[in-house]
Amino acid sequence: MFPINKIRKDFPILSRKVHGKPLVYLDNGATSQTPIQVIDVIVDYYSNYNANIHRGVHTLSQEATDKYEEARHKIQAHFNAKHAHEIIMTSGTTESINLVAHGFASLLKEGDEIIVSALEHHSNIVPWQMLCEKTGAILKVIPMNDAGELVLEEFNKLLSEKTKLVFVNHISNALGTINPIKEIIKKTHQVGAAVLVDGAQACPHLKPDVQALDVDFYVASAHKMCGPTGVGMLYGKEAWLKKLPPYQGGGEMIAEVTFEKTTYADLPHKFEAGTPNICGGIAFGAAIDYLNAIGLDNISKYEHELLEYATKKILEIEGLKIYGTSKNKTSVISFNLEGIHPYDVGTILDKMGIAVRTGHHCTQPIMDFYKIPGTVRASFAFYNTKEEVDVLVEGIKKAKMMLS
Ligand SMILES: Cc1ncc(COP(=O)(O)O)c(C=O)c1O
Repeated sequence: MFPINKIRKDFPILSRKVHGKPLVYLDNGATSQTPIQVIDVIVDYYSNYNANIHRGVHTLSQEATDKYEEARHKIQAHFNAKHAHEIIMTSGTTESINLVAHGFASLLKEGDEIIVSALEHHSNIVPWQMLCEKTGAILKVIPMNDAGELVLEEFNKLLSEKTKLVFVNHISNALGTINPIKEIIKKTHQVGAAVLVDGAQACPHLKPDVQALDVDFYVASAHKMCGPTGVGMLYGKEAWLKKLPPYQGGGEMIAEVTFEKTTYADLPHKFEAGTPNICGGIAFGAAIDYLNAIGLDNISKYEHELLEYATKKILEIEGLKIYGTSKNKTSVISFNLEGIHPYDVGTILDKMGIAVRTGHHCTQPIMDFYKIPGTVRASFAFYNTKEEVDVLVEGIKKAKMMLS
């Protein structure tokens, strides 16, 4: 049995009240909550060994450096990267994507093609549009169907020898669809192009194996995986990372500097200019330990049960439509009540202590596809319960009554 009661005790925030009601936190797609095991690591860092890394001979600096590099190794092991230097520490998914987009500016030429999917978060659309503006490359889009799935036959037609890069998320944040990335990677490699997978929404639910996937770049954010905000990772195959130029110039990323010429440090430091989020990186490692102690397989099985239970209950509400109905989806339910603006539903739910997200979820093209301004999104984590689903369902019914 999944030890849900024990797990909930790890999250201090889950026992707080909002507007006098017990918090029901269902905005995990935006950011996850933090267990005490990770909070303790943050407190320990600032209490005992706060220092800058990689550059001090003193004990504190050495301790911080060791812990930071240990975190990189934890991330490497978690994602099954071949080398620790293939893990670049960043401020999050957005920065990881921008780092790769910046690097490709020097590798693309006019007329080259970049393919993104219709299900992307804005952070996996805008950097590529900026790259196209800079290079004259052309952006193509894999379309989606009504269920919120990518149409792979159309993807096959888009691929050609002009394709240089394909970007797709592993799981859609707005709809929860799990995309067939293995197939997309295989097809893309057949035309000699590279693939970046945005794993921001996948990593809280499953454990990607970057070598088994044979993916070129994989990116994620710690704050969606029970870690802190402002830290994340970029996995890149060694050969690609060697080929890409540095993202930012500054301290830590150099081998030698003179006014005539600078040479760059080896991987991973070439991409890590300046003082990083040291505490965040160490806490990211602790979050990975925490998730692995529960087991991503156990997490995903439990969340699937929650999703099935919630979907059935929510669909019993008359006039409610769920967006994103793929069989292959994670614990996200995006919905609207007929004739009612999602913002109004979210505001009323908040008064009942229920935290959901409303709006376009940084995926305006998906909203345009469905011709809606936005949705209400309830995104469940492994620390949510069926009782909380019941509270949500009652809350939606009440909101419907008040707003109809
Ligand atoms: C699929 C996806 N990609 C990228 C991001 C951006 O992540 P961050 O804001 O942590 O950089 C998000 C955040 O919601 C997301 O859901």
